[in-house]
Amino acid sequence: MRVFNFSAGPAVLPLEVLEQARAEMTDWNGSGMSVMEVSHRSKAFVAAAQTAEADLRELLAVPSNYKVLFVQGGATGQFSAVPMNLATGDSTVDYVNTGQWSKKAIAEAKRFSNVNVAADAAEGNYTGIPAESTWERSPHAAYLHYTPNETIGGVEFPFIPGGSAPLVADMSSTLLSRPLDVSRFGLIYAGAQKNIGPSGITVVIVREDLIGNARPGTPTVFDYKAMADDGSMLNTPPTFGWYVAGLVFKWLKAKGGLEAMARANRAKAELLYNYIDGSGYYRNPVARGCRSWMNVPFTVPNPELEKKFCEEARASGLTHLEGHRSVGGMRASLYNAMPIAGVEALVGFMREFARRNG
Ligand SMILES: Cc1ncc(COP(=O)(O)O)c(C=O)c1O
Repeated sequence: MRVFNFSAGPAVLPLEVLEQARAEMTDWNGSGMSVMEVSHRSKAFVAAAQTAEADLRELLAVPSNYKVLFVQGGATGQFSAVPMNLATGDSTVDYVNTGQWSKKAIAEAKRFSNVNVAADAAEGNYTGIPAESTWERSPHAAYLHYTPNETIGGVEFPFIPGGSAPLVADMSSTLLSRPLDVSRFGLIYAGAQKNIGPSGITVVIVREDLIGNARPGTPTVFDYKAMADDGSMLNTPPTFGWYVAGLVFKWLKAKGGLEAMARANRAKAELLYNYIDGSGYYRNPVARGCRSWMNVPFTVPNPELEKKFCEEARASGLTHLEGHRSVGGMRASLYNAMPIAGVEALVGFMREFARRNG
């Protein structure tokens, strides 16, 4: 039986995509083999990889002066790759700290560069975003890095920061959830395992003028220019992940693209937040203006009930509602592939649980 999987990642994938992958598992594209057994240099795979890139470009309307890379190392690899490629010499880099993923990106950047934390939401316990007017940016930062959606805290930026420094965004848990003006960014990266596909592949979208200046010592697989020059096939790419991502992009296009995703995602998030706010039982701590559409943390009045909540939810076919191990509580992730029926089932369960345990 298929459950409603609310995991933050690896996360639910569209059923149609899984079924297509299953149908093609032992004979992909008339090859008599699975896609995993085909050379990444074969004509058929290169064509599939290029189609995936073209579909992603179309979905996000990526301008032609941007490279789209499919790399390995996860978003965590990008925490290092970004400063290695974009912060040469002794340049300073600006970071906005809005939660656990920002913090990790900052820690990694400090290994390579002078990091200026331009704004820090730690004082507010990461439940909001400091007003942009209060940010203390360095005059000549090589870039400004931020995390548009903090997957653990459930805090999402309702705006794109301004300024003259190239903007770098860790979009792991928000890319493809709604339309995006890519031209506002110098670089966008995302681990695949939320809205893109299986873990193991990472998408990087980078403006051409920012590549080609990697600091000496940068491993070649983390050098954007080297990767771009070889069409992300400098070495063996994660072929299965790339293939599934391609299926997901086709699925997104068939569903009406990112405008349609935005409508559905807004509806799902509103349904859950409205219920939580009106319940008098559950609570979401995030300031209303920056609540995430993708990741909704919530608590019950008595933390001792958390385990019971998650166990009973699982028995009702609603899985992975445990909050991140670092913060506890509960969290429901509502990525593109989560149908509204899943959120309706969750709200129904929450209502019933509150009635029985009030
Ligand atoms: C916003 C964000 N950044 C970075 C990561 C780390 O990604 P990875 O495990 O692909 O390195 C995650 C993982 O959940 C995330 O949600």
